[in-house]
Amino acid sequence: MSTPHLQGEKGDYAPVVLMPGDPLRAKFIAETYLDNVKCVNEIRSMLGFTGTYKGVPVSVQGSGMGQPSIGIYSYELFNFFGVQSIIRVGTAGGIKDEIRLRDLILAQGACTNSNFAAQYELPGTYAPIASFRLLRAAADTADTLGVPVNVGNVFSSDLFYDDADSLADWKKMNVLAIEMEAAALYMNAARAGKEALCICTVSDCPLRGEYTTAEERQTSFTGMIELALETVRNL
Ligand code: HPA
Repeated sequence: MSTPHLQGEKGDYAPVVLMPGDPLRAKFIAETYLDNVKCVNEIRSMLGFTGTYKGVPVSVQGSGMGQPSIGIYSYELFNFFGVQSIIRVGTAGGIKDEIRLRDLILAQGACTNSNFAAQYELPGTYAPIASFRLLRAAADTADTLGVPVNVGNVFSSDLFYDDADSLADWKKMNVLAIEMEAAALYMNAARAGKEALCICTVSDCPLRGEYTTAEERQTSFTGMIELALETVRNL
């Protein structure tokens, strides 16, 4: 059953899907780490693949940038393709002082300036959180691999270019990093009764004017993918 944005049939996606923002990263992950790979989506060049990692079925689907985009793809995967768990694998800008370039972050919660939750017409403020099962599996896997991770809140912003320059405000609330997708992903998972987690590697620290090189981004990206895939094996 294809949807407006995903052309696959229902069984085309594995129960667990890794979601990088960049579709070419989805291709890189599939080609580098998966066996028996099949391309399952090419609509809008938002590439998706299904294969196996050390024998475990797993899919990789690009999400695009921002909450509207990941909102569409994750909604369709959860509600129309029978996907149970989505692990976003992305980059983030470090906010908290202790967060350094190339650090890994497990987004336990996701603050946001997005209006995404308005659709639920709740009588209060919704708190988007990661699935505890996925979060615990990722933290335990990181421990086993000897990979340090930072666990806490991220800020899912609708703005990459922010006239109000609001990062210092989020910093005072101990928010670890800024990215642009986790909150909508967590809300879609909650609404569908499914599971989601966002893992990020810190690509820049905007408050300190620090940026990784393309090569550093690639290296820290592969570390994050290995953590995500080993987490899937441990579920
Ligand atoms: N802002 C928003 N999203 C990001 C950033 C940032 O500085 N860095 C990586 N993803």
